Amino acid sequence: MTGLRKSIHGEWSSRWAFILAATGSAVGLGNIWRFPYITGQYGGGAFVLLYIMCVLLIAMPIMICEIMLGRRGRQSPINTMFSLAEEEGLNKAWRYLGWLGVVAGFMILSFYSVIAGWTLDYIYRASSGSFSGVSDTEILSIFNGLLGNPELLIVLHTVFMSFTVIIVSMGVQSGLERAVKFLMPALFILLLIMVGYAMSTPAFNQGLSYLFKPDFSRLTGEGVLAAMGQAFFSLSLGMGAIMVYGSYLSSRASIVRTSISIVIMDTSVALLAGMAIFPLVFAYGLEPGSGPGLIFVTLPIAFGQMPYGQFFGTAFFVLLMFAAWTSSISLLEPAVAWLVENRDMKRVNAAALAGLLAWILGIGSVFSFNIWQDAKLFDKTYFDIMDYLTSNVMLPLGGLLIAIFSVWLMPRRSSIDELKIGDGLAYKSWRLLARYLAPVGVLIIFLNAIGIL
Ligand code: PHE
Repeated sequence: MTGLRKSIHGEWSSRWAFILAATGSAVGLGNIWRFPYITGQYGGGAFVLLYIMCVLLIAMPIMICEIMLGRRGRQSPINTMFSLAEEEGLNKAWRYLGWLGVVAGFMILSFYSVIAGWTLDYIYRASSGSFSGVSDTEILSIFNGLLGNPELLIVLHTVFMSFTVIIVSMGVQSGLERAVKFLMPALFILLLIMVGYAMSTPAFNQGLSYLFKPDFSRLTGEGVLAAMGQAFFSLSLGMGAIMVYGSYLSSRASIVRTSISIVIMDTSVALLAGMAIFPLVFAYGLEPGSGPGLIFVTLPIAFGQMPYGQFFGTAFFVLLMFAAWTSSISLLEPAVAWLVENRDMKRVNAAALAGLLAWILGIGSVFSFNIWQDAKLFDKTYFDIMDYLTSNVMLPLGGLLIAIFSVWLMPRRSSIDELKIGDGLAYKSWRLLARYLAPVGVLIIFLNAIGIL
């Protein structure tokens, strides 16, 4: 019966369109903004190695589960979990897994849009030449000036959120497919150029060894948790974004091959971003662990010095904004699909309502960079708490439950039927990873971080 189900929201025009959309969701601020700064905070190489292991051994098998459930359910994550549980005679409380994802999506989008707002400001600055020849102290004061201006941050946050709402209300397929096809390769090429520039700085080797030479003495339980969190965040896993995109995937497309392509593209973008940024950090004597502002203070120095920097700088922040955009729409889509299905709302109204909610939540993040910067709980600001709870707790927990549902509860024949790769080595390896390694990995990392292991 499942093979016959159709999504009321439409379907991707091809497998390639889905790969583009899912890559568009995966590649975003998480790769270019978050990956370098978290890597810097947790000491470099050992963190990166762990991150790659989490991507391959935990996140990739879970991505296959998530797309598989989405395509089988063909509805918003909440209704997908409900119908699949019903179909397999399981407890319908599984729909709360969909809810966990919707809530996580709102929380992530709320701060994501604030950071994406910074890129809007930087597009303006790069294009008006304010980075040309800047020193590290000058760029620091520009960046701090931006953070210290809550009104401007709110305006930028509003503009970005409105963009997101507009695209989601048009439906994810139209427009998005075309945009991603051209923008992703462009972003990739620009990153290569940035890495090329980093090579010309005297600290290129130092940057590379910081990134790729593991020093396990710097790794803490907290760092291991952060590496896993980054893997989920960067691949958009554990909250239903990939599930909802999977629900628009044609039943003929290969889920396994598709997942492998997404993982390869996402990981290469993150590593390239690291290779572009860390040499600059060392060349200009900046602090790798300085936090969320890392790319916003390093890259402008490079743009200010390289030939055609004004052009490259503008292009870079424009592309980063687009990358953020194609991710933010996937954060909103699970909630919107649910509102359309269950509340009978028009897509436009559903998108506006959901966007408004995330916008309101985001105001707290705006303030945590200025008037609330000293309001801390467990030494974390509002923004830190939103980011930490979602990446390090909610996404891995969502992923764990998705894996448990897919390989412990759903019968083997249902997954064989949906994955369509037969019952051979590929299927068995996926099942082994998703059944044992991924869930046990998530649990051990959780327990380790809270000090039980
Ligand atoms: N993966 C996106 C990024 O790296 C962020 C994201 C997380 C999108 C979770 C959807 C769901 O920027």
